[in-house]
Amino acid sequence: MDSALSGIRILDMTHVQAGPSASQLLAWLGADVIKLEPPAGDVTRSHLRDIPDADSLYFAMLNCNKRSITVDMKSSAGKHVFLQLLEKCDLVMENFGPGVMEGFGFPWEEIHRINPRIILASIKGFGSTGAYSRLKAYENVAQAMGGAMSVTGTPDSPPLVTGAQIGDSGTGLHLVIGILAALQQRTRTGKGQYVECAMMDSVMNLCRVKWRDHQRLAHGPLPEYSQPTDGRTSMPRTGNDSGGALMGNVVRCKPGGPDDYAYVVVQDHRWERLAGRIGGAALASDPRFATVEGRHRNQAAMWELIGQFSAAWTKREFMTILSEIDVPCGPVMNTADLAEDEHVKQRGMYVELDHPARGKWHNVGMPIKLSDSSVAITPPPLLGEHTEEVLRDVLHLSDAEIAALRAEGAFDNSGHAKDGE
Ligand SMILES: CC(C)(COP(=O)(O)OP(=O)(O)OC[C@H]1O[C@@H](n2cnc3c(N)ncnc32)[C@H](O)[C@@H]1OP(=O)(O)O)[C@@H](O)C(=O)NCCC(=O)NCCS
Repeated sequence: MDSALSGIRILDMTHVQAGPSASQLLAWLGADVIKLEPPAGDVTRSHLRDIPDADSLYFAMLNCNKRSITVDMKSSAGKHVFLQLLEKCDLVMENFGPGVMEGFGFPWEEIHRINPRIILASIKGFGSTGAYSRLKAYENVAQAMGGAMSVTGTPDSPPLVTGAQIGDSGTGLHLVIGILAALQQRTRTGKGQYVECAMMDSVMNLCRVKWRDHQRLAHGPLPEYSQPTDGRTSMPRTGNDSGGALMGNVVRCKPGGPDDYAYVVVQDHRWERLAGRIGGAALASDPRFATVEGRHRNQAAMWELIGQFSAAWTKREFMTILSEIDVPCGPVMNTADLAEDEHVKQRGMYVELDHPARGKWHNVGMPIKLSDSSVAITPPPLLGEHTEEVLRDVLHLSDAEIAALRAEGAFDNSGHAKDGE
């Protein structure tokens, strides 16, 4: 079946999370993704293993719908295979530490020279330019340096990381956008280009509204926040405040377990209706809350009243009650809630898969729905599962040529001398 990216072939050298999250999305959009791994494989194959000898869920959940080949990029024979693959691919993706591609002998200029149509898409912690360009990064380093940690938590907590992987998968999304744009430009110009996303830049982009408020601080305190901001020159940690023009917060629900909460947004034009439902006519006309300014001033009392009402209902009952009066409200769903949730099933967002070594398992589904392009999710490849297939089908190598490359150590570094050794 034709898919959005049918006909696009990707040489995917990415590892860990940030890069693989991007190439998995491109595979789900229909690209042929050939994951080029070092002979020992992407390190996440063995990270946090739950079943002995089976590739980890970490690897499995980020590498579906890909083919795997092993190529030793430190051997001459491996470099020779890479060179041939460059001729046959539309895109190379990588998220190595600074200088690794250069160390292989393949900086962007060289890749571009070899195949002017090819796109190179890279994720770096901090980009290839700038004072931090030589530094490596993981998710939480990016959250720390991109500003997210300093605004996450409560005023009396240390800076906190967010549970969503905005540094890794968030940067992966940025990279996919850049890749799709570069493919589109290539359609017009016939020329490939270098696409680079830095994790720090992506986190800053995702914290955009905090920069709005950072600049507003220069003009006085921010009344919508539940804590004073007078005299501040940087954004504080603001707990569960909505951070938008409309007030929002979490309230407790029945029976009071650790995830029995719901998030409520108080739209200005819905206050009367909300107040009427939780406190009757008296609250709906209470002058303390009649105006936005009044609700800002008296927000602690307002949340106390909403919380007294919500505590009598489960989080799902509370959502139903508020949705009946058109007030935005969401129960705080934990992973067990979501795994069983009817809506999640209907949206195909928690998909059961089979795997030769691990049996049944689940992956989070494809969050981008295209009406004319859909790809069934297939399990991740075993290490090197498709090496011979790719050499035959993509590079049209004969059995003898494959055997010769293997003997020279192109695919397996055990017992073979490296360049320069
Ligand atoms: C994630 C990160 C910190 C991991 O650091 P690391 O484990 O030291 O890995 P690096 O990417 O720096 O290096 C990879 C090594 O594998 C080697 N390697 C990778 N693929 C290879 C292949 N096919 N054949 C031979 N060697 C290979 C590289 O040569 C390098 O070895 P070296 O250290 O001898 O040069 C680093 O890759 C990084 O900063 N990446 C960019 C930011 C990023 O994406 N971070 C988030 C990851 S979720």
